[in-house]
Amino acid sequence: MHILVINGPNLNMLGIREPHIYGSNTYEALCSLILDYAAEKGVEIELFQSNHEGEIVDAIHEAYRDEVDGIVINPAAYTHTSVAILDALKAVAIPAVEVHISDVSQREPFRQISYAGMACEKAFIGLGFDGYLRAIDYLISK
Ligand code: DQA
Repeated sequence: MHILVINGPNLNMLGIREPHIYGSNTYEALCSLILDYAAEKGVEIELFQSNHEGEIVDAIHEAYRDEVDGIVINPAAYTHTSVAILDALKAVAIPAVEVHISDVSQREPFRQISYAGMACEKAFIGLGFDGYLRAIDYLISK
């Protein structure tokens, strides 16, 4: 099984950005956590982070060409704005799971809509880094 994990804008700043919301662990720590977990589960993982909407769209298209089995995506701020990422997920029709580190349901009104989520089978929200591991578990168990 081959899973692509996509992280959107500012998630490369984990550990520095708003630690009271996102915690003090870094993006590199998140990557290690995911890779170690995937190795334990015998899953092949590709990690992708970008601050640019079009690059995320391109990565989703590439997942189709690479015959990826599942996508875990935290589109970060693009969650709430990007019809392009929603359309890309719909275009490739690869099983996708939405992850948010913080509990967006308890935050500002503009965070209450998720475009990408409309193309995802499941969401893990407000579980911190553990949400990524639960998303991998979901894709494995399908
Ligand atoms: C986030 C929540 C988004 O609203 C925010 O823009 C982010 C991170 C999260 O993981 O909690 O950048 O996706």
